Amino acid sequence: MTEPVMSIQDLSVRFRTHDSVVRAVDKVSFDVYPGETLGVVGESGSGKSVTMLSILRLLQESKRLETSGHAWFDGQDLLALRQKDLRAIRGRDIALVPQDPMTCLDPVFKVGNQLSEAIKAHFPGSRGSLRRKGVELLDLVGLPQPDRQYDQYPHEYSGGMRQRAMIAMGVANDPKLIIADEPTTALDVTIQAQIMDVLREAQRESNASLVLITHDLGLIAEMADRVVVMYAGHVVETGDVATIFAHPRHPYTLGLMGSLPQTGGDEKWLRPIPGSPPNLAAVPSGCPFHPRCLLSKGREICRTDLPALDTVEGSHRSACHFKEELADEAAQLLAQAEQIT
Ligand SMILES: Nc1ncnc2c1ncn2[C@@H]1O[C@H](COP(=O)(O)OP(=O)(O)OP(=O)(O)O)[C@@H](O)[C@H]1O
Ligand code: SF4
Ligand SMILES: [Mg+2]
Repeated sequence: MTEPVMSIQDLSVRFRTHDSVVRAVDKVSFDVYPGETLGVVGESGSGKSVTMLSILRLLQESKRLETSGHAWFDGQDLLALRQKDLRAIRGRDIALVPQDPMTCLDPVFKVGNQLSEAIKAHFPGSRGSLRRKGVELLDLVGLPQPDRQYDQYPHEYSGGMRQRAMIAMGVANDPKLIIADEPTTALDVTIQAQIMDVLREAQRESNASLVLITHDLGLIAEMADRVVVMYAGHVVETGDVATIFAHPRHPYTLGLMGSLPQTGGDEKWLRPIPGSPPNLAAVPSGCPFHPRCLLSKGREICRTDLPALDTVEGSHRSACHFKEELADEAAQLLAQAEQIT
């Protein structure tokens, strides 16, 4: 069995405020394997970014932040490392392409200089060689005039160009793992597709694993090998992409697929999920999805017991007390939806 590049085990992240505790991530576990693309999907506020930022220790560490669990990478627990040792890994072995590129690009420095600094931090070289490498990377991510754009400031870049620059910075040091957090949300559809191509190409060049965080199941279908579905800080379903799309075994995953066109006949699954995600300072008891769940039908165990993430078959796992009931129903309804599209 292949060893994972990264193994997250029982990760919990809480933020204490003066009168509440926000349970942003609750006992999350998953692995990332060499060379694969793992999609992490879930509605806004489900804990996708906090999961990744916490293992990279990019959340501001203070008394208000409580993190527990493990994030194994190269035999080391990232959560137990000193910040100094972690900095050596971050930006070299693990690259983050953040949700908002302006959080990482400094407006007062030229993009090329920032790129060279990122390379120099781990692999020092002469000014000339750093520039050559920087221009090559801007070329790799598809900037039309890389030599010129090397000397421009972030404000001279469009949103799509900044996102490309972030990817260039991310892959500059041949990382083993790239974490891309909603790399295309702010961009229009054509540019989105281009950025995804760039990311795929960069991943191929460096043979890295990619964790792709997104709301967009379409993007997951296109890019990912495996999926982790998150809801209210929990992993509710995980498996390979083909299985999750053809045989989802969690009502929330089915609900996410509800953006598929409505079917005739019995439509009860294929409509948008009713209600909104919970306030993470007051996560519902039992299964956190129960107030919105159409499968629960008010059954008591859903309100009292948190379902474990149990095996459905092979590596497919679902956290639902009644996942067996979805075996036929989900398959039928999805097949109907496919006929209509
Ligand atoms: N510094 C913080 N203090 C308190 N709560 C926080 C903090 N950062 C995040 N949260 C809360 O943690 C929860 C998870 O947030 P997170 O940013 O991980 O969601 P997400 O899944 O990435 O959402 P989106 O798709 O909108 O990016 C949210 O309820 C958010 O309000
Ligand atoms: S455990 Fe109950 S509430 Fe939770 S997803 Fe399954 S049926 Fe719905
Ligand atoms: Mg996020």
